[in-house]
Amino acid sequence: MNKDLEKETAARAAVELVRDGQIVGLGTGSTAAYAVRFLGERVQAGLRIRGIPTSVNTKELAASLGIPLTTLEEFQQIDITIDGADEVDPELRLIKGGGGALLREKIVASVTRQFVVIADSSKQVASLGKFPVPVEVIPFAQTLVAKKIEGLGASVKAREYAYGNPFVTDEGHHILDCSFGEIADPEELAGELDRMPGVVEHGLFIGMANVALIGKENQVIELRRAERKSAG
Ligand code: A5P
Repeated sequence: MNKDLEKETAARAAVELVRDGQIVGLGTGSTAAYAVRFLGERVQAGLRIRGIPTSVNTKELAASLGIPLTTLEEFQQIDITIDGADEVDPELRLIKGGGGALLREKIVASVTRQFVVIADSSKQVASLGKFPVPVEVIPFAQTLVAKKIEGLGASVKAREYAYGNPFVTDEGHHILDCSFGEIADPEELAGELDRMPGVVEHGLFIGMANVALIGKENQVIELRRAERKSAG
């Protein structure tokens, strides 16, 4: 499997869905970066859109490609968002946040009409949980929250940057990577995490994705909630 080719193929298919005049949510991560680059090519060719980036990294990439940018201050409704994922299950429930941008990603997804997930085929899973669920926490409550999540049965690791320093998100928070193993009931777990004081957001994205485009060698598999068909 050539993961880069699969990411690129999925990203190219997603960018073809973008229409003139749209407000476009720009995802974060290596797969989303392909989409931003292809979108940049379409903008150079005359497509008129405005992008709302989900991270500082994506903002810099998009700006370097000449993609006009806007903010949630100006627009509270997004036409289409293209973003990657760490895991996608058959109901299009996702784990996201491997790149640490889950908070802005979820906010952007929550106001998006058409949320398109793009991924290589290694991200497609029968059930969520092999990938640790990233949980964004307020540093003040980090240890407390880690212990509570351990109480739910996970092994928890505070994400580090270089030299033992904590990873700090674009919003100034820390991330706990929580390995649950197979998650029997993602909705229930999401509810538990939502109710935990000190948790800012978590990487379970449930009921948000409208479609997933999965690169499978040089093909694209289109997943909708119940049915699957090949988009060629
Ligand atoms: C960023 O915070 C994440 O949600 C990414 O979308 C996710 O980790 C997938 O990243 P890759 O496309 O780099 O695998």
